[in-house]
Amino acid sequence: MKLCMIGTGYVGLVSGVCFSDLGNDVICVDKNFNKINQLKNGKIPIYEPGLEELVLKNYKNKRLSFSTDLKESVKKSDIIFICVGTPTKKGENGADLSQIYNVAKEISTSINKFKIIITKSTVPLTTGDEIEKIISKKNNKKKFSIVSNPEFLREGEAIRDFIYPDRVIIGTNEKKSNRILKNLYQPLISKGAKYINTSRRAAELIKYASNAFLATKITFINEIANLCEKTGINVEDISIGMGLDKRIGGRFLRAGPAYGGSCFPKDTKAIITTADKFKTNLSVIRSVIKSNKNRSSLLLNRVNEILNKKIKNKKITFLGVTFKANTDDMRDSSSQIMIPSLSKKGAIIKYFDPTGQKNEFKKLKNVFYSKTIKEAVEGSDLVIIHTEWNDFKSINFKNLAKSKKFIIYDMRNIYSSDKIQNQGFKYYSVGK
Ligand code: UGA
Repeated sequence: MKLCMIGTGYVGLVSGVCFSDLGNDVICVDKNFNKINQLKNGKIPIYEPGLEELVLKNYKNKRLSFSTDLKESVKKSDIIFICVGTPTKKGENGADLSQIYNVAKEISTSINKFKIIITKSTVPLTTGDEIEKIISKKNNKKKFSIVSNPEFLREGEAIRDFIYPDRVIIGTNEKKSNRILKNLYQPLISKGAKYINTSRRAAELIKYASNAFLATKITFINEIANLCEKTGINVEDISIGMGLDKRIGGRFLRAGPAYGGSCFPKDTKAIITTADKFKTNLSVIRSVIKSNKNRSSLLLNRVNEILNKKIKNKKITFLGVTFKANTDDMRDSSSQIMIPSLSKKGAIIKYFDPTGQKNEFKKLKNVFYSKTIKEAVEGSDLVIIHTEWNDFKSINFKNLAKSKKFIIYDMRNIYSSDKIQNQGFKYYSVGK
């Protein structure tokens, strides 16, 4: 099939490349000339394990191409995926849909034969209805079909999540589009993915409800972890004990710092705004947002206690600053709250992240990037394991702390406290 992906961020690029790997002809379009040029030269603008190899392979065999010409690309394609960003509106909680509607307007002038136009970007309930209105201003309704097909890709695991999804959701009431899209996804369905056809609005809501539920699950276990800390219980026992109940499930029950990234914080706020529009109070999600906002302060209080309320001039190391492992994404990472706050209180901070130095910290006083773990922890009073990179999972702390023993605060519960304490380190973790 001939596909066009509009927007070459995580969603558009990963989905486009994976669709081309499944044998489709895919044009990835972006208005950013530099990005498209880079891609044509085999340079990948985002950090995503396994992506580069797939891009090179499919670009070479000519199933994948890149273009800045939206109109021509739409004309050449049967199925158009809209994959542009839907960030939070400045100063508000709702999603900014201007990129979506601009793209819809451009598509509306390029419909030369029947097209299926799909929102893969996360778009609020009724966005599909709006797109349909925009496109029908210039086109007969028989010449296009607007479908919602939300993505469920995790950064850092995006290719695996694309190839082995739990489910494929297709939101359309039109039989023809449903048949064509089932055919497009058949290779994944054959491998076990469940294919679900719903109304367009339902598909839009499934995406938000899923992200909001996962954010709720994490926030729930984070609050239980707070109780565990006060009562000498190991939160991991709780996660296992709860997670084995099939109705609950064990995934996304890892306690840690506040959840972050480009999706959960943005989507929880956006679904509240949508619900407000329909005069519905999503009070559970509201309190999840509040609890998660409060979480960085709670963890900072613990840092303060660990250091006997003396932060000033203390040398603190952060291992990992991205919002999770296997990504270079800093968006809404809790390190962006913790590091500036500790620096303000007079701490001297060194950080190491496998994805390198971060612009976010360049202007902060007494915050320094270290090129290696060894350099980062040298002379430190407190080492905070902030992100669960594999690089941090088997550190020989004894070897690294030759001159001075530091305290370890493992915010991802990577290590066993007995093992680390036996090596003579003071060790703190989350929910224990
Ligand atoms: C999330 C969803 O998991 C994807 O299904 C969805 O497609 C994507 O948003 C999106 O809407 O595009 P992502 O933001 O890449 O994916 O990251 P997650 O792996 O879900 O992690 C989000 C945050 O939750 C991270 O800060 C992570 O550290 C935290 N987390 C996750 C926990 O604290 N505990 C857990 O058990 C799991």
